[in-house]
Amino acid sequence: MRLGLLTGGGDCPGLNAAIRAIVRAAEAAGDEVIGFHHGWRGVVDEEGAPLTSEETKGILQSGGTILGTARYHPHEHEGGLDAVVKTVRSRRLDAVVVLGGDGTLDASVAVADSGVPVVGIPKTIDNDVPGTERCIGFDTAVSTAADAIDRVHTTGESHDRLMVVEVMGRVAGWLAVHSGVAAGADAICTPEEATDVAELAAALRERHDAGSSSSVVVVAEGADVGSAESTPALPTTGARVAAALEALTGFETRLTVLGHIQRGGSPVASDRWLATQLGIEAVDAVRAGCTRTLLGIQGEHAVRLPLDVVTSGPRLVPPLVLRLARRLTVHSGAGSPASR
Ligand code: F6P
Repeated sequence: MRLGLLTGGGDCPGLNAAIRAIVRAAEAAGDEVIGFHHGWRGVVDEEGAPLTSEETKGILQSGGTILGTARYHPHEHEGGLDAVVKTVRSRRLDAVVVLGGDGTLDASVAVADSGVPVVGIPKTIDNDVPGTERCIGFDTAVSTAADAIDRVHTTGESHDRLMVVEVMGRVAGWLAVHSGVAAGADAICTPEEATDVAELAAALRERHDAGSSSSVVVVAEGADVGSAESTPALPTTGARVAAALEALTGFETRLTVLGHIQRGGSPVASDRWLATQLGIEAVDAVRAGCTRTLLGIQGEHAVRLPLDVVTSGPRLVPPLVLRLARRLTVHSGAGSPASR
């Protein structure tokens, strides 16, 4: 068999581990892999070359993607889908394995509608692809963000400051919740749950009245922060929250936007495991003729789901998890100085 392979959307740690696993599992089964550059754009432009274990040697632990990536959706470009079909035919591909987040996987449904056999593997530090409990890259991003928040804590404590840390997550707060809890944040603002910034400011004041001299607030970039949105002309949600909290509390406040640092670096062991597991499963799915499929994780195990599940919208943090995450923060009145 011959498999096409691409990585699309924002990069994340663990993509190379998945590429390596796919190439090795395919080779072991006597199959070939053609790697396409820059996501679906590479298929449209026929920018593909054979990938062997020689090219994928030593990449298990490296960040980014050796294939390059792009936010390119063939169905949004005139002739895009026809060009994909043409490449799939001319390269005699039995299937295309796609490592993508919501945008790339949504586009893959349109490609599948054109008759191309597709197997999707969920990857995004946002961890919000529906159908799976884990996406490649999430665990590493949580570790990176938690480490950064730990560092912000100590400088905040030294200066008696209120520290606001903005993490990625436009529609889902998985990264904010997991990194915030892991690093003992005093407040966590997510897109899923509205935060009344005036109430948050009052709770932080109470915490400081009780003896704390500094606090750390973690804010997802798409957090629902209501009134703070009206703070004029500030570039990010974190900036608006920081400005509003400083004005309302009178505490000296600093903002740290973690940005793309969260997407970089070497994958942690659990992401290498996940990427390897899903990579092998993708080859098995293609060999079993099981395409128009999304691979996911449920419990410990990989599952094959209909690819169309990706169109059901982002997987949000459920209320139970949000409540748990806020239990030790000022949101629930647990504003003691010893909360970290
Ligand atoms: O899709 C993952 C993500 O990291 C989002 O959390 C973030 O908003 C976005 O990518 C940033 O994308 P770009 O690198 O294109 O600016």
